[in-house]
Amino acid sequence: MPSPLQAWRQFRAIRPELMYYSAAAAKGAPSVQRRDFSAPASKLPKLPVPDGIHTLKHFLDFAEAIESPKEFKQTLKTVQTFADAEMLKLDSALAERAKKHNNWLTPWWLNVAYLESRDPLPVVTSPGVNFPKFEYQGQTGQLDHAAKIAQAAIFFYKKIQRGELKQDMAGSAPLDMAQYRLLFGTSRVPKKDKDEIRYGADAAQSARHAAVFRNGHAFRMDVVDRDGDPLSLDTLRQQLDEIVSASENRNLFPLGCMTAEKRDKWAEVRESVGRLPSNRKSLDTIESALFTLAIDGPAQPLKGFTERDEQARQSLHGSGSERNSVNRWFDKTVQFIIGDNGYCGMCYEHTPAEGPPVATLMDFVMDQFDGRTFIAEGTSTGLSPVRRLDFELTNDHKKAIEKAKRRIDAVAEDLEVLTYTFTRFGKNFPKSVKVSPDSFIQLAFALAFHRIHGTLAPTYETASLRKFDEGRTENIRGPNLQTAKFCQMMKIGNRPFVELHEQLHAAIAAHKKYTADAMNGAGMDRHLLAWRLLAAEKGLPLPSILDTSAYKRMAHYQVSTSQVPTRHYIPMCFGPSADDCYGICYNPQEKELHFTITTFQHFPSTSSKRFAKELERALNDLRAICVKGAKEHSKL
Ligand code: COA
Repeated sequence: MPSPLQAWRQFRAIRPELMYYSAAAAKGAPSVQRRDFSAPASKLPKLPVPDGIHTLKHFLDFAEAIESPKEFKQTLKTVQTFADAEMLKLDSALAERAKKHNNWLTPWWLNVAYLESRDPLPVVTSPGVNFPKFEYQGQTGQLDHAAKIAQAAIFFYKKIQRGELKQDMAGSAPLDMAQYRLLFGTSRVPKKDKDEIRYGADAAQSARHAAVFRNGHAFRMDVVDRDGDPLSLDTLRQQLDEIVSASENRNLFPLGCMTAEKRDKWAEVRESVGRLPSNRKSLDTIESALFTLAIDGPAQPLKGFTERDEQARQSLHGSGSERNSVNRWFDKTVQFIIGDNGYCGMCYEHTPAEGPPVATLMDFVMDQFDGRTFIAEGTSTGLSPVRRLDFELTNDHKKAIEKAKRRIDAVAEDLEVLTYTFTRFGKNFPKSVKVSPDSFIQLAFALAFHRIHGTLAPTYETASLRKFDEGRTENIRGPNLQTAKFCQMMKIGNRPFVELHEQLHAAIAAHKKYTADAMNGAGMDRHLLAWRLLAAEKGLPLPSILDTSAYKRMAHYQVSTSQVPTRHYIPMCFGPSADDCYGICYNPQEKELHFTITTFQHFPSTSSKRFAKELERALNDLRAICVKGAKEHSKL
């Protein structure tokens, strides 16, 4: 590892605009803790503390991509001042923190990204996930599939408990599997200012039940027997039949709607509702359930949209309180949604886990359908009877529920959700021309946005940090300078394919290189977060680098993306992180690319449909550049 002085000199060589080097660095300030490579092979390495100089280099690269030369000059000055006066102190505090924690980032991340957020969980925080369409219509098929999905989920849960899951890998690196253990029996619990998380894995006794919702009513239903074995489909079906008979009328005040409220409001109402012991018991039963099953009513696609679009709306929010939002309990990590028309899915609370472990669960459920590996019949020992989970509510509670219904109705009406499959090629094409499919797709996003809005979008892409113990995520930020140049060249037009081809490769290589940095714990954004939090903890002013107009612009994402690959057709979706943002979850399969694009209708200059059109054009154009550019190259 170079000394801080050497590192700074290397940095100056990359950025010759910097006229002097940091005096503090020259004195040999303490270096940050590095990854412990001596850890035993079975244990994942600790998340390293990123190198400050490296982070600043990233910062300048990203700033330059979106700033004018005049603005960038000012940013350079601030970065120099920050490096001289603030960075080393913050980084030595971070090195101290890293010594004390398994993972210096994760406890912070859980608070900042999830538990301290006061915003409602749907539709930005909690993603929706959808199964391929099942072939049934009506209640019989619906209940049969509810039983099968529940049983398949229990098979998966048992595999987690027995440590039988296949090890997840990124290339040859094993990934942290801890998130799987947190999926079942877990619930977020609303509290004033900061929520709590109640993990099923921490329970003194494993739960044996699911919470089932129908027509706004909640029920407790066993899903495993006294010995912890999955209940047969027959037994599950009998219980579901009982639930259906007991829930034919609609509950006008479904408490679950409160879980779609702002967190402080829900915390206040939950606390008040829970003062009655019977209510408290019902809350406890729902929160400790292994998962929920929503036995939904009809769902009609909106005019101009497809059944798949409607399926995504069902998994994101339930399409409003007149439809199926009354059957949701958004605090639960795993909520299965069973439509009456063959469309099923899941809404999941994001705090305990990222998309890939959830996607693995969904793929596993589909494998059980493919293999027909269900237990159809069997006697069960020690079954508890199905129990209604009614709540005694005051007028104030009812008023709060009415308000929560109006809120989820407004969100459902506002969010444009489009599922889009690009069928001309899948990740096979970029692979065939030796470029990273993920970087290729990200470049298409940048080009599509640039063509619609004439500007470059600060872009968020999730990178996994699961190579590290307790790892969560970093941000593969865009656009980089090379992407900016490529979009500009495409705008000017009439450039020879050979030039476009070279610039396309430069943009993709820059993205791929940064992806590797992000996944290896050398990304920029979580380091900036650490500087902000450490400064606040120490009573220091906001680090000057975070007070720059460059950073403020970077922090306003206009494209928020995440790749979640699956083997079956299982698209995931989430809402945009700002009014003017596009939320894009994508699933590149070998021969097709699946996207779910969301936008807010109250922001008229964004449209999911328009974006899908431009995305298709961009993907086709990138392909043409790869093919024709390579041909022209070979003639040179
Ligand atoms: N030439 C040929 N093939 C290439 C290539 C190249 N230059 N570069 C990559 N490939 C291949 C890879 O080997 C891989 O092959 P496979 O299909 O056989 O597995 C495939 O193309 C895909 O690679 P790539 O597109 O580069 O990306 P990736 O699969 O490594 O994914 C991330 C990149 C960042 C999405 C991923 O690593 C990650 O972090 N995922 C987690 C995201 C997450 O947590 N999302 C959920 C948030 S809730």
